[in-house]
Amino acid sequence: MNMTDSLFSVREKVVLVSGGSRGIGRAIAEGFSDRGAKVIISSRDASVLHDAAKAIGAEAIACDVADKQACESLVDRVIEEHGQIDTLINVAGVNRRKPALEINDDDYDFVMDINLRGAFRLSQLVGKTMLERGQGSQINIASLNNDRPLNHVAVYAMSKAGLVHMTRALALEWGGKGVRVNALAPGFILTDLTQELWSSPVMQDWGLSVTPMRRLGTPEDMVGTAVFLASEASAFMTGQCLFVDGGCSAGMEWPIDRT
Ligand code: NAI
Repeated sequence: MNMTDSLFSVREKVVLVSGGSRGIGRAIAEGFSDRGAKVIISSRDASVLHDAAKAIGAEAIACDVADKQACESLVDRVIEEHGQIDTLINVAGVNRRKPALEINDDDYDFVMDINLRGAFRLSQLVGKTMLERGQGSQINIASLNNDRPLNHVAVYAMSKAGLVHMTRALALEWGGKGVRVNALAPGFILTDLTQELWSSPVMQDWGLSVTPMRRLGTPEDMVGTAVFLASEASAFMTGQCLFVDGGCSAGMEWPIDRT
């Protein structure tokens, strides 16, 4: 008997991944699909989305999380087609890097509407259906910036700190009703969102120097923790944020061995 498989199984689970067309969301969606889950990916960009869905064996439904009606239609459609959502993964996220004084209202609204309001909206809509069934797991993709913001990404950092607080707040309200809410905080991951940033040798050197495991992460590095948070293996866990960051958040390294 293979006990490990049933403990970590996501087979037949209906998993909705917002922001699943590329990067971390796509890798997580593929990880679930490979393990027998019924995966639905959504994102704004319909053509990329459909290609990704085809490649990873998922269903595609276009949805801009900043659009309330689109979110409502997305959740209604998934429930109509599948009867339930077992796992919601809020991945959709954007960033605009600027010094704080240069951030304008449009930058603020763009980042907050997608990263925080959009995630809250989907959590509410899917949460309602999960609470009716008395079961479900939600996973919010946060960031290293939750706790310790980097400079020039103030609004992004604020949105991610809010996302982790949202995770805790919903976990408190829904814990006794069978619905778990957790967060996964990636470290420095090479994706389309960050490719340009990490193409700079200065940034690469710095990134490796602050990551004890001495490499940048890959989207695939996020799969194991997401599967864990969706499966029975994490049945007594809610309101937590797991850092998957090669050790970045463990502490600060100093050059004591070079003195
Ligand atoms: P990415 O830019 O490669 O992918 C973002 C995904 O979100 C895409 O599928 C995109 O279509 C979707 N998206 C963007 N705006 C949307 C909207 N309005 N409605 C629906 N979907 C939308 O980004 P990446 O790097 O894969 O990041 C994914 C998540 O992980 C984001 O929430 C990001 O903040 C977070 N993260 C990324 C890190 C990194 O180093 N790449 C580090 C920490 C957190």
